[in-house]
Amino acid sequence: MFANFMAWIDKRLPVTDCWNKHLAQYPAPKNFNFWYFFGSLAMLVLVNQILTGVWLTMNYEPSGDGAFASIEYIMRDVDYGWLLRYMHSTGASAFFVVVYLHMMRGLMYGSYQKPRELLWIFGMLIFLVLMAEAFMGYLLPWGNMSYWGAQVIISLFGAIPVVGEELTIWIKGDYVISGATLNRFFALHVIALPLVLVILVFLHILALHEVGSNNPEGVEIKKKKGSVKPEELSKFKFHKQYSDKYDIVDAIPFHPYYSVKDIMGVAFFLFFFCWVMFFAPEGGGYFIEAPNFEPANGLKTPEHIAPVWYFGPFYTILRVVPDKLLGAVAMFGAIIMLFALPWFDRGTVKSVRYRSKVHLLNLIQFAICFIVLGILGTMPATPTANLVGTIASFGYFGFFVALWFYSKNENTKPVPERVCK
Ligand code: HEM
Repeated sequence: MFANFMAWIDKRLPVTDCWNKHLAQYPAPKNFNFWYFFGSLAMLVLVNQILTGVWLTMNYEPSGDGAFASIEYIMRDVDYGWLLRYMHSTGASAFFVVVYLHMMRGLMYGSYQKPRELLWIFGMLIFLVLMAEAFMGYLLPWGNMSYWGAQVIISLFGAIPVVGEELTIWIKGDYVISGATLNRFFALHVIALPLVLVILVFLHILALHEVGSNNPEGVEIKKKKGSVKPEELSKFKFHKQYSDKYDIVDAIPFHPYYSVKDIMGVAFFLFFFCWVMFFAPEGGGYFIEAPNFEPANGLKTPEHIAPVWYFGPFYTILRVVPDKLLGAVAMFGAIIMLFALPWFDRGTVKSVRYRSKVHLLNLIQFAICFIVLGILGTMPATPTANLVGTIASFGYFGFFVALWFYSKNENTKPVPERVCK
């Protein structure tokens, strides 16, 4: 009966074909490691955020007078409201943990290089929208840090010459951050940006499946048709979209091999996620900051305004530049550099395993600088912090500049022909 039903559907909508093309018969390199968990985990967190967000919205009130109280109501009176809220707030931090690790994997294995530049660009667009989404969501509890955090970031636009002041008023919808601002941020946070995110993730996956997955060896599993001996071809059957065009070697079908492996990743992830959610939902003041337990108050600036941890690296870059406009340019520049990464890297070898020692060191110093910038972003701006932050900012931008210079004639190791030596 089920087969008949599916045949009826497939004649009208290619469900089985789509399932095979993008899941069951998708050829995935057989050497995926731990770093390949984070794409599917990012999808899981996205679904968590959307579902818990919908249920939170049922009891949230997007107004200056009611927002803070409605969060308290959700936490105390709504059945399992505390769980929904903590799933959502912990999910926000988990999203960035997962996405940063996902990006790091891309850096290590050169997954941004040709032919995956567009896939990388879609990833970066996702990252940009994700930051906007998190920023706007953070205003919604209408706590004092929500208020002052938004104040700091929106005032950055005021540094733009000529139109700056007008622009901040346009963004706020008022002369100060008010219920009007909260209301429009709510609209963007619950509908506009999630919609854009979902569309971008869809395009991200389509772009991935067009060019195929990279892997820790940085070796392409697709070879020119006819260039591989038949006995060396994989014994598995892949969707004809892939196998008609290429000889596919060293690949296994995504289902059941990686569907099962990803479930294991999900189990590990949920273990940590639930631990934080049930035992430390405030994340030691890093996930939900102390001043946010007080309602927004335009007359009471928190002693130390700090963004949530995941904005830390970019916030430090902003803060160490003495001029406000130049600081904002440096901060946005840090993100633009990542967009342009495929063109900074002029090398042809993808994986760090076969690249030069210089590249390995450059990548390690970049990761260290990024972490240091992140830690500093959550700390007060002392002179020492500023000095360290300045050095780490140079390290951050230096990564791209150095890469551009040495990648052209890099001293690389021979790359194996196949995924498994
Ligand atoms: C909501 C956020 C995101 C979701 C749901 C997502 C989802 C995925 C999935 C499911 C994969 C395939 C599985 C895997 O390789 O792990 C993937 C691959 C990839 N993603 Fe993302 N991604 C997100 C954000 C990003 C970001 C921010 C970037 C970087 C700017 C990025 C860059 C890549 C790259 C380069 C690949 C191919 C990796 C390879 O084949 O080695 N993604 N993504």
